[in-house]
Amino acid sequence: MSLSNPEPSSPKTLKHKATSTVGRGKVVNLNTNLNFSAWNDESVALYLGNSLDHYNNWEQPTVIVSDGAYGVLGFEGDTSDHIDLPNWYEPHIEAWSKAAIPCTTLWFWNSEIGWAVVHPVLEKHGWRYVNCNIWNKGKGHIAGNINTEKIRRFPVVTEVCVQYVREVKVNKLTLKVWLLKEWKRSGLPLQRANDACGVANAATRKYFDQGHLWYFPPPEMFERLVNYANKHGNPEERPYFSLDGNQSLTGQEWSKMRSKFRCPHGFTNVWDRQALRGDERIKTLSGKAVHFNQKPLDLMSIIVEASSDKNDVIWEPFGGLFSASLAARNLRRKAYSCEIDPDYFYYGVQRFNQEVHQCSLL
Ligand SMILES: C[S@@+](CC[C@H](N)C(=O)[O-])C[C@H]1O[C@@H](n2cnc3c(N)ncnc32)[C@H](O)[C@@H]1O
Repeated sequence: MSLSNPEPSSPKTLKHKATSTVGRGKVVNLNTNLNFSAWNDESVALYLGNSLDHYNNWEQPTVIVSDGAYGVLGFEGDTSDHIDLPNWYEPHIEAWSKAAIPCTTLWFWNSEIGWAVVHPVLEKHGWRYVNCNIWNKGKGHIAGNINTEKIRRFPVVTEVCVQYVREVKVNKLTLKVWLLKEWKRSGLPLQRANDACGVANAATRKYFDQGHLWYFPPPEMFERLVNYANKHGNPEERPYFSLDGNQSLTGQEWSKMRSKFRCPHGFTNVWDRQALRGDERIKTLSGKAVHFNQKPLDLMSIIVEASSDKNDVIWEPFGGLFSASLAARNLRRKAYSCEIDPDYFYYGVQRFNQEVHQCSLL
């Protein structure tokens, strides 16, 4: 008998269909027709249905929190492996890209391999990778039950939550290219940008760098560059740093051309946080967890708070028990979400009813 390496895949064999899209079964099965398909208050709107049918009616998002298919049969409609995830996500990603504004941040939750296969689709639709954050659930997550001889790998206790922003372009140029091009168009030498900003060399070193050292100029520095170029640059080419050719951008307009972000003190991209258990876990009357994939509220709160301000709009396309929407509501943001499964929708809505009830008792 001779051993050989696997044959290289031909393009035909590469594209195989995932074997099943039937979920592993649910703990809850209410078997009842709900007499409501929406829930809302002044800040949150939750819908029963396919989010693809709802995106058009939602206000444009500052933040999108995606926690959909993982390729693990996690819910009915999830695929059985990662192969079909790009197809599963593409119509959603297309819709998010249409609705996004320059400052929209996308948080994409998944397994490592799930994210890896969807990443090219995100890039194709104008999402720029920023950071991969790793949720480390710790050894407690495996509880010594895993037979590593059988699974033949290290036990997995992580998920990823990957931060993407829009790749904003002006006349097909990325902002860093456009910025330098506008300055050059003025005919002014590069060093004069340092005079404009009142710094020794920071402007040329940071704002005009064309590599990874590029910094987005803060609004006041951007205004200094604009004013200087308009005053001292070639008069025939004015105005500079303008989108419409008539008026230069203001510092405030410029600041809206990138996503919002503030990091809580001491936070890194590794989130040590045990898997959800205890009171936060939504359970049936008999004490069973309703949804295998319910995310911790604190992690959802951190990403929402880091990338938005009060009154900003948050989308949660794959609601489950609506953890991101609840985080958004607690943080005084507005949220739109959809859940396709009536049982999860029912329990998710109960979560909000309880929250409202508790607030009214305070
Ligand atoms: C990973 S779970 C989300 C869990 C949620 N983050 C939480 O904390 O409860 C994904 C959910 O998306 C729902 N879903 C899948 N496809 C959907 C679609 N096209 N529109 C709306 N919901 C969908 C599934 O039924 C499932 O409950």
